[in-house]
Amino acid sequence: MVLVSGKEVSNKIKDEIAVEVEKLKKNGRKIPHLAAVLVGEDGASRTYVNAKVKACERVGFGSSLVKLDSNISEADLLVEIEKLNNDTEVDGFIVQLPLPKHIDEQKVTEAIAPEKDVDGFHPVSLGKMLLDIPSFLPATPYGITEMLKHYNIPTEGKHCVVIGRSHIVGSPMSVLMARNSYPGNCTVTLTHSKTQNLAEITKAADILIVAIGKPEFITADMVKEGATVIDVGIHRIEDSSKKSGYRLLGDVNFDEVAPKCAFISPVPGGVGPMTIASLLKNTLLAVQLRD
Ligand code: GUN
Repeated sequence: MVLVSGKEVSNKIKDEIAVEVEKLKKNGRKIPHLAAVLVGEDGASRTYVNAKVKACERVGFGSSLVKLDSNISEADLLVEIEKLNNDTEVDGFIVQLPLPKHIDEQKVTEAIAPEKDVDGFHPVSLGKMLLDIPSFLPATPYGITEMLKHYNIPTEGKHCVVIGRSHIVGSPMSVLMARNSYPGNCTVTLTHSKTQNLAEITKAADILIVAIGKPEFITADMVKEGATVIDVGIHRIEDSSKKSGYRLLGDVNFDEVAPKCAFISPVPGGVGPMTIASLLKNTLLAVQLRD
């Protein structure tokens, strides 16, 4: 069994990005700048956004954090987005999700200028992805393709089963794995909450990508011997023995499933760090596509 270490791959990608930033600096060009919008005080969202800002520092990007009150109106949030769209210092920005219930996430996503949509959630970005036009790929699926590439995991002709059809992970993941490229050329089955006989389908997977949002849902009996398993789940489970007060679990019962796998990504240290590396890659791409 080979551990698919997102931590390792993301560090390599960050080193490569840092080299590109140095080149830009040497040539007297603008340093890429990523901004993040955080609405409210959700603990997990704050942690993710802080990690994104820290990653910017690590590669030499400029960054800014726009913190907004959870009571902000949708109209006022749209004004903030318009400011970022027009700010020439900012090359790309994200609005951390989820947003408070009174705000329409789709409306907010569509307000982001497509050329700054480094999360790749805008309909223009997703449309370009479908058409194989270079654009911003959603960070999590993009990160997973980078992991598969790094470990030379064979994908052509393989059966890839994706669990979860969210707009930001499952759906784009299924598109990327079916594309005529590497990684890709898989026969893809996209499963979701209405799927019948899920275990029968997962057992037939050469590559299983799990984004179901249920802690340790995938057990050994649901996985084929020699499969590649990528765990997108991340759950905070209360644990008073930890300094933080919690430990992290994925959607896969790692201890049970790992011995059956050819490749498996852990939680933490798997997909999570790759998401941030992809966001940085997209921000660099924003600069390259513009210049
Ligand atoms: N919430 C969970 N994942 C993401 C992500 O990739 N981007 C944003 N903006 N919010 C998220």
